[in-house]
Amino acid sequence: IRPIIIDTDPSPDDAVAFLMALASPDELEVLALTTVGGNVPLALTTRNALMALELAGRGDVPVYAGAAGPLMGALRTAEHVHGATGFDGYDLPPPGLRAAEGFAPDRIVELVMARPKGSVTLCCLAPLTNVALAMGREPRLAEHLHGIVLMGGARAEGGNITPAAEYNIHVDPEAAARIFASGVPITMIPLDCTHQALTTQARMARLRAIGTPLAEAFYHLLLFNKDYNARQWGTDGGPLHDPTVIAALLRPDLFSGRLAHVGIECHGALTRGMTVIDWWGVSGEAANALVLNRLDAEGYFDLVIERLSRFGRA
Ligand code: BDR
Ligand code: CA
Repeated sequence: IRPIIIDTDPSPDDAVAFLMALASPDELEVLALTTVGGNVPLALTTRNALMALELAGRGDVPVYAGAAGPLMGALRTAEHVHGATGFDGYDLPPPGLRAAEGFAPDRIVELVMARPKGSVTLCCLAPLTNVALAMGREPRLAEHLHGIVLMGGARAEGGNITPAAEYNIHVDPEAAARIFASGVPITMIPLDCTHQALTTQARMARLRAIGTPLAEAFYHLLLFNKDYNARQWGTDGGPLHDPTVIAALLRPDLFSGRLAHVGIECHGALTRGMTVIDWWGVSGEAANALVLNRLDAEGYFDLVIERLSRFGRA
């Protein structure tokens, strides 16, 4: 059973990801959720994490709040995608749960270093600020981790927040650069992969057909985002980005990709936050990430539906 920490800025796709992990106790042990400012400000990402845990009856999982904004500059949120709360589309009751004591980067260090070397995996679903801060606090952190699996970046697909950059990397490129230079084994899931994971009408119908209150809530939460994407891009559904991180742990056979060197552009006026992926090995730089670019989308949604259906019929 693999111990993991999930760093997240909940919009609904983040929540589906950590709920899938919590529904997989035979494979994954979730040590904590850590929240960061991202899609919406930190107070809301933390609140959304707590609301989703409460809905799932999983108040036993600690949630630690972390950085409110990136290492440099102001936070760029994405209310246009997920609504003002980050959880628009369904009214969940305000959470009775509270965040646990402690600053997320400190807790990441403690939780990882308390375990044997090479055991804990960080699952990163958000701007990488908390992880970069944790590495800054404990220089041995990178070599103590089993690895990092992150949703972020783009290769041929182009960006979703600027023409060049994907949101999670664009918000805090300095943090991303630190992580990609750290030597930690990284599995990177860029937009090239997640844009194959569309919440089509048929898949949304399967989600709703689970028939639990949790499934009904996520049907509506994801519908909000789906409608945004349909308006924006004319696709049947929107990308269900972040659960790919958990799926890659549970079912690596659903993915394929290649080892490559990934550089993070921190300076370009047009390209800040771009992930420069040496797909063809022209730079001579050693690979620092496994970049997953292909997904068995049907198998992925089968897994998502199966894991979400494990939450009770309260
Ligand atoms: C990323 O941005 C967020 O909106 C999603 O949760 C995902 O982590 C996709 O660019
Ligand atoms: Ca996210």
